[in-house]
Amino acid sequence: MGAATMRGFVWLAGGVILTAVLCLRLPGGQAVLPGSPLPGITAYEFELFRLGLDDFTEVETPEDGLGPAFNGNSCAQCHSVPAIGGVTSMTEIRAGHRDENGAFKELNGGTLFHLFSVPNHTCQVHIPAEANVIARRAPIPLFGAGLVEAIPDDALLALEDPGDRDNDGISGRAARILDVATNLERIGRFGWKAQQATLLAFSGDAYRNEMGITNDLFPDEVALGVGPEQLTLCGARRGIEDVRDRRTGLRGIDNFANFMKLLAPIERASAGVDAGNGEALFEFTGCAACHIPVLTTGPNTNPLFDRKPVPLYSDLLLHDVGTGDGIEQGAATGDEIRTPALWGLRLRRPLLHDGSAATPEEAIRRHQREAAATVERFAALSESERRQLLAFLNTL
Ligand code: HEC
Ligand code: HEC
Repeated sequence: MGAATMRGFVWLAGGVILTAVLCLRLPGGQAVLPGSPLPGITAYEFELFRLGLDDFTEVETPEDGLGPAFNGNSCAQCHSVPAIGGVTSMTEIRAGHRDENGAFKELNGGTLFHLFSVPNHTCQVHIPAEANVIARRAPIPLFGAGLVEAIPDDALLALEDPGDRDNDGISGRAARILDVATNLERIGRFGWKAQQATLLAFSGDAYRNEMGITNDLFPDEVALGVGPEQLTLCGARRGIEDVRDRRTGLRGIDNFANFMKLLAPIERASAGVDAGNGEALFEFTGCAACHIPVLTTGPNTNPLFDRKPVPLYSDLLLHDVGTGDGIEQGAATGDEIRTPALWGLRLRRPLLHDGSAATPEEAIRRHQREAAATVERFAALSESERRQLLAFLNTL
């Protein structure tokens, strides 16, 4: 190709990128595509987002510290549909033992049993025969995660009702956990068990637990049941594998956290006529008691996060809706799962923590216990009302 044509392409590509970026910044009404940064970010934040996206999609090798045991070789491998930051249909495995009295015990010191190992499977973990609880976990989309992080702990504490004092059958519990990023007691909100409170802590957790890359927050390799000598043979490095980039001064975990923090939520689709009274029916049947339509971020020095509405459709509390996977993790009992946010629901499948529901209707019908009365009201709706409620869910 001639130099002039080449220059033409470069100009064209530059123009497309610039137009895309400007579109995101136009006030009022312009679509924010899935995978875009939050509208209104500064040039500096855009650079952090870009660096974060780069690292989030980078495929790691054993030389970078991948393994010895791992579930994936890049964050994006499991978080990429409908755009980087979303989900995929893979599931990972947790396992443990429950005795006759219902007491839960970890086997080999943890519950995450990795799917893969490097290099020759000599460090492949296996689920021990004593395991009588085996659970699958589907990925959770990250769109809007920075807004979720900015919701104050007090707002979640104000929503909990552990003893069901108001007698409505619903008793959410805030997940009190120790945040390894700050060493403070915080209210967990990320993960199916609300096991982490901050995106930095989850980044450290995921880098070590999903990819086997040790970091300042999670410094030790884990491969359940694999002894130290074998780990060394499999190339487990001594020391921290996630080191600071010499140019930017940032670690991988900082980059992931920045990317997720600045990732825009999925926009609502416009409600067609089918949705009719769907939103009112969502309230009427009692879905909104747990899937709270809007929470609000606290005061924040960054205007992007300062007292912003967060239309996530969740209370971020732990509930027993009869789907619990038996694994005790963080502050959650085996029966409890954190209410998932429903924003972006139309763009994600499969559903439920283990990916076992194909459709929203199937997911709804699986709710029991704390949600029993709600599901009865759902089942008692007329055919047309049910269709309206499901059409409303399809706008999220
Ligand atoms: C092998 C697949 C896989 C890989 C690789 C992976 N994740 Fe995940 N991610 C998951 C699964 C599964 C969950 C739900 C885990 C749970 O709660 O048990 C999840 C949940 C999350 C959440 C919680 C979101 C929320 O709103 O609750 C964050 C944050 C996250 N991942 C970030 C990352 C980052 C950062 C990386 C790369 C360092 C990464 N993930 C790599 C599968 C993966
Ligand atoms: C008592 C609290 C509660 C009520 C009431 C409730 N939900 Fe849920 N919902 C949850 C929890 C907890 C889960 C996660 C269950 C799991 O993954 O095992 C969930 C999961 C879902 C999912 C799957 C989302 C995903 O990302 O996988 C959908 C869809 C859903 N609920 C819709 C509804 C609708 C519609 C109603 C009303 C008919 C409703 N829920 C009532 C707590 C509740």
